Amino acid sequence: MTDIDVLVLGAGAAGFMCAIEAAKRGRRVLVLDHSDKPAEKIRISGGGRCNFTNLHCSPANFLSQNPRFAISALKRYTQHDFLGLVEKHRIPWHEKTLGQLFCDNSAKDIIRLLLQELEAAGAKLQLGTTISDVSRPDDRFSIATSKGAYRARSLVVATGGLSIPKLGATSFGYDIARKFGLSMVPPRAALVPLTFSDANRDLCKKLAGVSVDAIVSFSKTAFQEGLLFTHRGLSGPSILQISSYWQEGKPVTVNLAPGLDVFGTLAEGRRNAPKQDLRTAMGQILPKRLAEEMAVENRFSGRLADQSDTVLRRVGDRINRWQLTPVGTEGYRTAEVTLGGVDTNELSSRTMETKSVPGLFFIGEVVDVTGHLGGFNFQWAWSSGHAAGQVA
Ligand code: FDA
Repeated sequence: MTDIDVLVLGAGAAGFMCAIEAAKRGRRVLVLDHSDKPAEKIRISGGGRCNFTNLHCSPANFLSQNPRFAISALKRYTQHDFLGLVEKHRIPWHEKTLGQLFCDNSAKDIIRLLLQELEAAGAKLQLGTTISDVSRPDDRFSIATSKGAYRARSLVVATGGLSIPKLGATSFGYDIARKFGLSMVPPRAALVPLTFSDANRDLCKKLAGVSVDAIVSFSKTAFQEGLLFTHRGLSGPSILQISSYWQEGKPVTVNLAPGLDVFGTLAEGRRNAPKQDLRTAMGQILPKRLAEEMAVENRFSGRLADQSDTVLRRVGDRINRWQLTPVGTEGYRTAEVTLGGVDTNELSSRTMETKSVPGLFFIGEVVDVTGHLGGFNFQWAWSSGHAAGQVA
C-alpha cells in the first residue's frame, strides 16, 4: 500500500493542471490513467493544433444548471494565465478567429508543456493503470489498481466525460460520484453534428462538403459561424454550438444568408433585372450547389419577372428562416464534449471539493460545466484544475 497526499485520476488537461499546482505546494502527487498515453484529447484537439484557450473567455461562454458556478475558478485562473504558461515554454501560437488561440505547430507542444511542468513540480505520472475500486474506509481514500494499492488524503476525479470512447472516455467519474451519493445532471452529447431523417437527410447527402456562413438559432440562442453539409446531416461550428442548446423534437432555425434580406434583394432584382433566372439570382446569394438543390427541391424556377411576391417570400423564408427538426445527434462517437455531469450543488465553486465527502474533488469535463466551442472547454479544465490544486 503506497501512501500519498493527492491522487489524481485522469491524465487529461484538468488532471495535469491540478497535479502541477498541488505538487508546487509540496504535496506528494500521483496521477493515474488507464490509457497508455497522456492527454489524448489534447493531442487530437483543434484539428491537431489545440485551441487551448479563448481571449474572450467569460462565464457567459458556459452551460451549467448553475450558470454562476464557474465564475470563481475562471476568475482566479484566466485565459491570460494559461497564455503566460504557453509563452513561458516558448510555444508559438496564433489567434485564428473570435479570440480562439491555437498552437502554430502542434497540440503536442501543449502536452510537452504539461509533462515538463509536472516533472518540475515533482508530481508522478503512471499510465496504463486500471482502477478497480475506490473507497473511503476512514479519513483517507483507498484505491485498488492493476499496479498496486494506494492510500491518499485527497482524491481528485478528472476522468472527463463520455465523448470519443475510442480515446479512452468512460463513465468512471460519474460512477464514483454515484458511489459517494452525489447527485448528477444527466449527461448528453454536445458540440456534436445534428442528424436528420426524411427529405432533409437526402438534401444534406447531396450537398455533402458544401459549407456556408450561417446563423443557427434555437429559442433565444444564436451562433453565427460556418455550417457544413455532411452525408449524415449538418455540422460545422454553428451547428456544433447550437447542439448544446437544442432540445429533442424541436426545430432549429438556419439563416443561410446572414445580414441579407433575401426577399428584399430578389424583389429589387425583379425590378432591375427582370429577365434574370430565379435560380441564377439564388446562386448569387448562396453557394451554387446549395442554390441549385434548394431550387429543385422547392420547384423554384423561371424568370424573376414571373415570380409573385408570395413565391419570392417563400424563397426568402427558405434562405433566411429555414426551419428543420433534427432526429438526433451523432452521439458520443463524434461529440467534442459531454453536457451535464456531477451536479455543481455538490461542489465548492472555489475549490471543487465535494461538500459531503472531505478530500474528494471533481474537476474538468466530469463536472456539469460545459463550454462553447472555441477553447472554452480547455480553459474550464485549466481553471477548475488550478482551483483544486490550491487546496487538495
Ligand atoms: P479529458 O477527457 O481530457 O481527460 C480524462 C482522462 O481520464 C483521459 O486521459 C482518460 O484516459 C482518463 N480516464 C477516463 N476514464 C478512466 C478510467 N476509468 N480510469 C483511468 N483513467 C480514465 N476543447 C477546447 O477547449 N479546444 C479544442 O480545440 C478542443 N478540441 C476538441 C476536439 C475533439 C475531437 C474533442 C473530442 C474534444 C475537444 N475539446 C476541445 C474538448 C476538450 O478536449 C475537453 O473538454 C477536455 O479534454 C476535458 O479535459 P478533462 O481533463 O476534463 O478530460
